Amino acid sequence: MQTIKLPTDVRISSRGIPAGDHWVLGLPAGADPSDERLPAPVSGFLAGAARRHRSKAPGWTAEGSAQIGRRHARVSVLGLEAPDRLEPRAIRKWLDGALSAAIQEGAERVVVRLPSAVECLRSEPDAVRVVASAALSGYRFDRYRKQAEKRERERTLWLIPPGGSEEQYRAARRPGLAIARGLRLARDLGNTPPNVATPAWLAEQARDLASECGGKARVLGPTELARRGMGGILAVGQGSANGPRMVRLDLGVRGPKIALVGKGVTFDSGGLSIKPAASMEEMKYDKCGACTVLGAYLAAADLDLPVRLSCFLPLAENLPAASSYRPSDIVRCANGKTVEIINTDAEGRMILADAIHLAARWKPDHLVELSTLTGACVVALGERAAALFSPDDELADALLVVAGEAGERLWRMPLWPEFKEQMKGEHADLKNSGGRWGGANLAAAFLGEFVGDLASWAHLDIAGPAYTTKPAPGRTVGATGYGVTTLVQWMRSLGTRSSTR
Ligand code: BES
Ligand code: MN
Ligand code: ZN
Repeated sequence: MQTIKLPTDVRISSRGIPAGDHWVLGLPAGADPSDERLPAPVSGFLAGAARRHRSKAPGWTAEGSAQIGRRHARVSVLGLEAPDRLEPRAIRKWLDGALSAAIQEGAERVVVRLPSAVECLRSEPDAVRVVASAALSGYRFDRYRKQAEKRERERTLWLIPPGGSEEQYRAARRPGLAIARGLRLARDLGNTPPNVATPAWLAEQARDLASECGGKARVLGPTELARRGMGGILAVGQGSANGPRMVRLDLGVRGPKIALVGKGVTFDSGGLSIKPAASMEEMKYDKCGACTVLGAYLAAADLDLPVRLSCFLPLAENLPAASSYRPSDIVRCANGKTVEIINTDAEGRMILADAIHLAARWKPDHLVELSTLTGACVVALGERAAALFSPDDELADALLVVAGEAGERLWRMPLWPEFKEQMKGEHADLKNSGGRWGGANLAAAFLGEFVGDLASWAHLDIAGPAYTTKPAPGRTVGATGYGVTTLVQWMRSLGTRSSTR
């Protein structure tokens, strides 16, 4: 594994700011533009822009330059909504857009002045999120481009916190950078093409990660999977020359026992129930659940979180071949339940069945699983939100709260008994597809058959937000790392609760 370097070095600074070559300033409507922390030529430009645009609607921009000592600096000002109307999303969009513009113009020393008196920038999670996204600005998946095309450069960003929040931002630097590293790892792995990122390769990355983090790794190959009766992952993997792997990573010796499970289908062609050609290339992202879990593992290690963390990653490639599993096959999973295959494209739940069973047998306090599981979930919630399924209200509420603070849209969906009913098989205990309607709910109900008597589990269907295919300002196409921030912030919240107990 290559060491994970962040594209941008973030420093928190409120005085003695070195002369940057690009200043980025947000100015909420009606706010006083004067800020004694800024060098006179910059605050002069800001005041002038405020005057000129006073009567304009939010969204105006002013670009100019300022002479600071002997340096010539660019200044970008963006007119924001009034402080009480500003939303975290709007701020993030502004920040990401402004930073990516500055970076595209080649700035290597960027200064960002966050507006004061804006509620949604002041809390601890707000500060963590701002630091993390600042550290990732300029991120690009460049590994397969020639040297001259590699655009990531060494860059420094000085963040001037909102007035009065300096301490908050200083404290947020460490968790923010850890999350950014986790996000970068999750994105880099998720973006890696499936001819490179085979199950064996991904297992090797996980092994290297564990040894770098001082954790433990175990990798089960096909022989060992067969010995353990893991017929679900074996069935999915049997159509590919790149055989399946089950990875387990451990970290930490104190605190609550947390199991994280992540779907790692390195490529999902659908198998014999093959997918249409259009957009099939997106199915390299079908490993994003596993990649997010690896990112969270890295951040947990960076932060030395007081949790006993075990990560379970079922890795397989779903291809059509003479050796593929077929519709109507009956497969026995590790918990002894048999599953009739209706559709080989419902492969995620088959590999997760074995992984969830393995994780649940470890008797964790909580189990959280993430997967790009169903297209139906994207139909229900759109491309920017994940679905949350859990029978445990307390766990569900905790995840919804941290996800909201992390800016990761998460929406609770039901685990009603009729879904479980619909997943019963004709000739086996279960079937792997229960039809078209409520597909995300049916998949979740299926997974619930493999948790045993574990009560505190959650399934996150991240098929929508795990990757993006449309470029937007400050948003690169590809894996997003969705879920890393939520998982890390959730584990941090558990840590503080258990240490005060
Ligand atoms: N990996 C897909 C789900 C997916 C779809 C992820 C779109 C990201 C974007 C999953 O394995 C799948 O194919 N699910 C089927 C299930 C069906 C056959 C019951 C689906 O959603 O169509
Ligand atoms: Mn599939
Ligand atoms: Zn899939």
